[in-house]
Amino acid sequence: DEGLHPVSYPWPHKGLLDTFDHASIRRGYQVYREVCAACHSLDRIAWRNLVGVSHNVNEVKAMAEEVEYTDGPNDQGEMYQRPGKLSDYMPPPYPNEEAARASNGGAIPPDLSLIVKARHGGADYIFSLLTGYVDPPAGVEIREGLNYNPYFPGGAIAMARVLFDGVVEYQDGTPATTSQMAKDVVTFLNWAAEPEHDERKKIGLKAVILFSSLTAIALKWVELQMSQMD
Ligand code: HEM
Repeated sequence: DEGLHPVSYPWPHKGLLDTFDHASIRRGYQVYREVCAACHSLDRIAWRNLVGVSHNVNEVKAMAEEVEYTDGPNDQGEMYQRPGKLSDYMPPPYPNEEAARASNGGAIPPDLSLIVKARHGGADYIFSLLTGYVDPPAGVEIREGLNYNPYFPGGAIAMARVLFDGVVEYQDGTPATTSQMAKDVVTFLNWAAEPEHDERKKIGLKAVILFSSLTAIALKWVELQMSQMD
């Protein structure tokens, strides 16, 4: 069973030359931190990666410092706790796989770093999944501890619905509806999976400008040569 095919949404960053909506990445980080991070790791993202993308350096330093990291061993051979710094990676919710399974009825919440690229349907699929929880159709039995979601292959998913209107309060005053939060967190996760995305498109734009200028110059040159021929 493949799951319901998601709609193709008009993401603002979808176009050939369009970059991410960075205000949306910032709100999406907040949703990840306040909702998803309780169960999902984001192993490939370090605090420093957020600098200049969603937050300024002082904001990121302050956020990192709120997290305690285990470091060491020190001179005495002991491990110790210290506040986070820019080079630290996002803290995982569970110490190991057994703990993750134990807290989630045997299922493992996957790391979200590359999830937008790893799942068929990408951003459209994850948006649909987060906003697509409904009652199971008549006659469909969902096992205890699982939830019905028609977008999830098989229809029965260990993750319950987590986004409800108002579960976060956005600093920029954007109303935190379920679909707004889903859009923002998916935009954030899309950035996490493709941090080079904006740079790639900006270089693409420069290349187009450069090559069209060169073509124009070359044509002008040809025109000049021809005009000298007669
Ligand atoms: C699976 C996203 C919050 C527990 C997943 C998957 C995604 C996802 C994309 C993979 C689905 C697939 O395999 O196709 C998110 C996002 C969250 C969030 C964006 C925040 C907005 C949570 C929370 C929990 C949780 C808070 C725990 C209370 C799980 C579990 C699975 C899962 C257990 C595995 C489901 C299964 O394989 O049946 N999540 N999640 N998630 N998530 Fe979340």
